Amino acid sequence: MPYGSRLAATMTRRLGRECVYTPSARLALYLALRRWCRPGGRVLMSPVNDDVILFVVLAAGLRPVTAPVSPWDGNIDPAAVPESTWRSLDAVLTTNLYGIPDRVAELRRRCDQLGIPLIEDAAHAIGTQVAGRPVGSFGEAAAFSLSKHVAAMAGGFLAVEDARTRRELEILRDDLLTPARLRADLSVTLRPLARSTVKALHLVRPTWRAMQRLGLLERDADSYRMPLHAPRLSLAAHEAPSLPPYDPWIRVDLNDYRVRHGAFVRAQLNLRLSRLDTDLAHRRAGATLLAGTPWSSPAVRDHGGALPLFRVPLLVDDRDALVERLVGHGVVTGYLYDPPLDDYAGAEFVDPAPDPEPARWFASHVLPVDPLLARRVTKALTKERTRTAEPGPELTARWTPRDSRTRPV
Ligand SMILES: Cc1ncc(COP(=O)(O)O)c(C=O)c1O
Repeated sequence: MPYGSRLAATMTRRLGRECVYTPSARLALYLALRRWCRPGGRVLMSPVNDDVILFVVLAAGLRPVTAPVSPWDGNIDPAAVPESTWRSLDAVLTTNLYGIPDRVAELRRRCDQLGIPLIEDAAHAIGTQVAGRPVGSFGEAAAFSLSKHVAAMAGGFLAVEDARTRRELEILRDDLLTPARLRADLSVTLRPLARSTVKALHLVRPTWRAMQRLGLLERDADSYRMPLHAPRLSLAAHEAPSLPPYDPWIRVDLNDYRVRHGAFVRAQLNLRLSRLDTDLAHRRAGATLLAGTPWSSPAVRDHGGALPLFRVPLLVDDRDALVERLVGHGVVTGYLYDPPLDDYAGAEFVDPAPDPEPARWFASHVLPVDPLLARRVTKALTKERTRTAEPGPELTARWTPRDSRTRPV
């Protein structure tokens, strides 16, 4: 039996696609990029994305081409991608940021025209549908993360079109897995328990502050991005495509991202996966509540707030100060992708977006809120007299005519 086949079978039933189990979504994305893109290829992606994904693309020996994005949701704005850029591409990578779907029909159409693969990053979007079809069923391949929706802190899938491709990818995956370690298994088992205990005992604030002071967080306290280490990154490029030289960047936030976890961990993940629908129902309820607040991005309201979002993008003034103050309310905000990847990494490592302003604006104003904490955060934001951020006529005038779907209401 292939490694993780029981988990993969459960996911296949949900999605209607062949699935390969992986210890993380980042490893699933690496596999997809290696399988569908030749080294040296150019990949269109949103700059409002986890820096880890930038390093996955680089490790696959590819050149990230950062796309213009919608200022309402941070996802690729296909209509604003210049024709010359389209013609230069070898693949497109979606984000489905916070679970809000990419403009996937348009991206699929473009990829078909150009004869290039569409790779879906569905790490935030395990329950999102577009016109009745699940995100993750549009591309040649789609990566999912169990660390996100069911708080498992391990696990992922790569969904593909047929059994032959699945078998090919299982072999590729097995080559990249590192051996099981008792320590890694214990850590994956205990971390979610520790996290829920901290929450249940209302210890989020002191625990977070203590971790900050003790330097136990992998990212600097004053930055949402990990240090780039540009000279080391340039050296790693000589060995691309290859995962090990990029380990120091790709392992951030999930050190065991390619560890072959044991049967006990996988049994736990199966249990968590069986609770996914309950989790998604709670997320849908929280997203509906947050969609009705003045801070909600129009992109959330546009979907009727009925998506089971991973995070709900609110748009707020003075975001960074608010993030600090929210810790006092027991709310730690994660998944902030600021600055955009082209500003963060620079032209040595990525092709910058032709119009960087929408990404800059969205990345610096978005407050991604866990819909499971909708009531607590709404109360905190009201108490903090939070003001809604408006992108300003210059930005919206440039953007809205291209896509009325996410025009503010
Ligand atoms: C957009 C996005 N894609 C992929 C990943 C990787 O997921 P995993 O942690 O399961 O590797 C992340 C992680 O946060 C992410 O934010």
